[in-house]
Amino acid sequence: MKQFPDNIMGVRLSSNINSDLLDAISVTKADKVFFLFDENTFQYCQPLLNIRSEFPDSFSLILKSGEENKNLDQLRRVWDYFEEKGAGRNSLLVNVGGGMLTDLGGFAACTFKRGMSFINVPTTLLAMVDASVGGKTGINYGGLKNEIGIIRQANDVLIYVPFLESLDQDNFNSGFAEMLKAGLIHDADLWTRLIEYDLDIRDISLLLPLIWRSVQIKHVIVAIDPEEKADRRALNFGHTFAHAFESLSLKLHEHLHHGYAVAYGMVFESALSVIRLGLSPEESDQIKEVVGSIYGTIPFAGNEIEQLINFMRSDKKNDNNRINITMLERIGKYKVNNYVEENMIKKVMEEILKP
Ligand SMILES: NC(=O)c1ccc[n+]([C@@H]2O[C@H](COP(=O)([O-])OP(=O)(O)OC[C@H]3O[C@@H](n4cnc5c(N)ncnc54)[C@H](O)[C@@H]3O)[C@@H](O)[C@H]2O)c1
Ligand SMILES: [Zn+2]
Repeated sequence: MKQFPDNIMGVRLSSNINSDLLDAISVTKADKVFFLFDENTFQYCQPLLNIRSEFPDSFSLILKSGEENKNLDQLRRVWDYFEEKGAGRNSLLVNVGGGMLTDLGGFAACTFKRGMSFINVPTTLLAMVDASVGGKTGINYGGLKNEIGIIRQANDVLIYVPFLESLDQDNFNSGFAEMLKAGLIHDADLWTRLIEYDLDIRDISLLLPLIWRSVQIKHVIVAIDPEEKADRRALNFGHTFAHAFESLSLKLHEHLHHGYAVAYGMVFESALSVIRLGLSPEESDQIKEVVGSIYGTIPFAGNEIEQLINFMRSDKKNDNNRINITMLERIGKYKVNNYVEENMIKKVMEEILKP
């Protein structure tokens, strides 16, 4: 049995964001402090931070929000701002935002003057349980997601759940999908607690231990395999299909939240797990039912299967035209590196997407 540490290095739950941030910043002994927001986090989250009184000499930059802006132009804006304000290797960047912002800001900090410190203050559920933890940073480039990036841990990650109050339901559900995934791959009890959680009421105090458990699971898996040689692929459960759904949606100019794509992906990858690893059909059905009740009908049709398989074919992890999929032996137990023939994928897709 893998043991979980009591404390997770670098990731903390904050009950007072201003004093915790003050502590985290003073530990770095930074000569200059920069805050990075996007339009929405500046509007909704910045007012919860007493930047003017606590950090009167700091600098703030506001980027455009949205995944389409996780790009080189915005990265250049951050680098230019650093230049303009005289940032150096001993300066610090505080990223206040969702995964778009923590990925881009983390990358900007890692690359400026060969690397300055950065602290992540995630403001979406997805960033709290996933994007801001684990050290992956980067931007989209040439039409490809996360094409340019680097793995480096943030100096600190401060999770302050009151930021979630202003988050819309779709983004909330999107982050919740990554929590469901954490339960499915590594903790059946977390899965049970999550499916009992009332997403209409969104009681944040009940969510807090579930967020923390999800972070622990990510942390432990990343610690076993930081460079994604094997076990870290557990976190990709649902994602082989999800990336195909996201690529197709991008091509059709239809927005699909990442977590929704992951949730639909978990339905297909569970069905494959029944065939390949003997996951019980009852557990697979339960996953399908839970996903349907939160994320609705899967918005793809039988005539899109070929295109979706084409997208899966380009995945870096494949081998000899077989597609590499993380699967479940049972709820709470993952197995990585399952190579699947395309015709099996096609059969499962036809079954699930039949009219
Ligand atoms: N580095 C990793 O390990 C990792 C893991 C998973 C996802 N990601 C990346 O994360 C990104 C998706 O993250 P996301 O879903 O957080 O997207 P996001 O950062 O685009 O945030 C979603 C939307 O919510 C808004 N927002 C953020 N916080 C808010 C708040 N408290 N109140 C109101 N609105 C708020 C944002 O402005 C944005 O419009 C993708 O780019 C993905 O590639 C990275
Ligand atoms: Zn994901």
